[in-house]
Parts: sequence; C-alpha cells; structure tokens
Amino acid sequence: MRFTALFAVASIAISSVAASPLSVNLDLGSLLGIDLTSSNNFGAPHAPWVPGSKPGWYFGNHPEQHRELTCLFGLICKILKLFPFALQCPVPPPPTPPPSDGYHQTFSNLTGATQAGDYLTFGLVDTVADCKAMCNSVAGCNFVNSYHDVNGKDGSTQLTCSLFSACHTSSDADNLGGQTQPDGSIDFITNSDGFCKDS
Ligand SMILES: *[C@@H]1O[C@H](CO)[C@@H](O)[C@H](O)[C@H]1NC(C)=O
Repeated sequence: MRFTALFAVASIAISSVAASPLSVNLDLGSLLGIDLTSSNNFGAPHAPWVPGSKPGWYFGNHPEQHRELTCLFGLICKILKLFPFALQCPVPPPPTPPPSDGYHQTFSNLTGATQAGDYLTFGLVDTVADCKAMCNSVAGCNFVNSYHDVNGKDGSTQLTCSLFSACHTSSDADNLGGQTQPDGSIDFITNSDGFCKDS
C-alpha cells in the first residue's frame, strides 16, 4: 500500500466528512494514484493472461507481504466507502463456511486458468472463500476462478483471484501460464478452481 498517499487521502477524507458530509467530491483515482473503478477493471486493467499484467488488489491476512498492492483492510475500507463506484472491501467470510455459500463448483484442480472476454478484475487472496467474498463485493460478478500462478505475481504464493461476469466451465480454462517472468522463470497454473454464483 502506498502509505503516504493513503494517509493523505485519509486526512482529506476525514476532514471533508467532518466539515461537510454532503460535499465529499474527491477524485479517489488522482489521490491514490490508481483508478479503482470498473472502467479500469478495479485497478487491474490487464487480465491475468496478458503478459506483464499485475493484480489490482490484495484481500487477506497478510497485507505486509503485499505493500505494492491496494490492500483491502482497515482504513482503506472506510475511505473506499466514500467512493461507492470504486472497489469495495468485502465482508470477510465466516470462519466455518455455511452449508451453502451461494456458489457451485464448475471445475476443480486444473492446470489452466479461465480466459474470457467478460473479465472484470483480478487480485490476490489467501483462500477460495476470500475470493468468493471479493466476487460478492464487485458489481456484476458471477464467477470466481482461483488458482496458484506458480512463479508468477512476483513469486507470491497467494491465490490469484480472477473475477468474471458470466459463468465458465473447464473449456475456457485455457490460460496455462507460459509467461517469462522478470527473473527468467516461466509461470504455470495449478489448483485452478471455478465457482459460479447460484441462480
Ligand atoms: C490436484 O492436482 C495435483 C496435480 O495434478 C495433484 O497432485 C493433487 O493431489 C490434486 N489435489 C486435489 C485436492 O485433488
């Protein structure tokens, strides 16, 4: 997270709220240095199969490992609430999942990630449940593809969480990685799971 920018936003946002709750009219993009609205795929304008693409956000318990990303926790969540059109922090999933979490699995444990034109955004998460929580907080999201991008994402061991507006089967899970990374390694995909929202 860009702490300097964050604190600048925080102080401006808080003083604006205190001064006049109805006149909050800030440009979040120019303040944070990143556009977190749908027109910029919520901070990840390039889909995960595009060489050199970067996750737009991180949601999970290890923000300290992802300082370069917009980490969806704490103060940033309160700030984002002032900007309803921007990415929002999800409601954390319950520790023990309910019998039905509102999703059904369409494929599991593949070595290919979903590649499709209805791509919405992607980021990093700790768990599949966190990825579903992200989908629940992104307008129009109906499909979750979580996977390990081995060697990719600057070596992050977190799950990649890629979100789409329509549901997909294994037939679209054809991004096998194969991108040469800055350190010369080639990335590949494991544990790719697809989940479609019920109804
Ligand atoms: C997923 O696939 C890998 C490699 O094909 C296999 O080693 C692993 O046991 C599988 N995991 C599950 C949970 O089925």
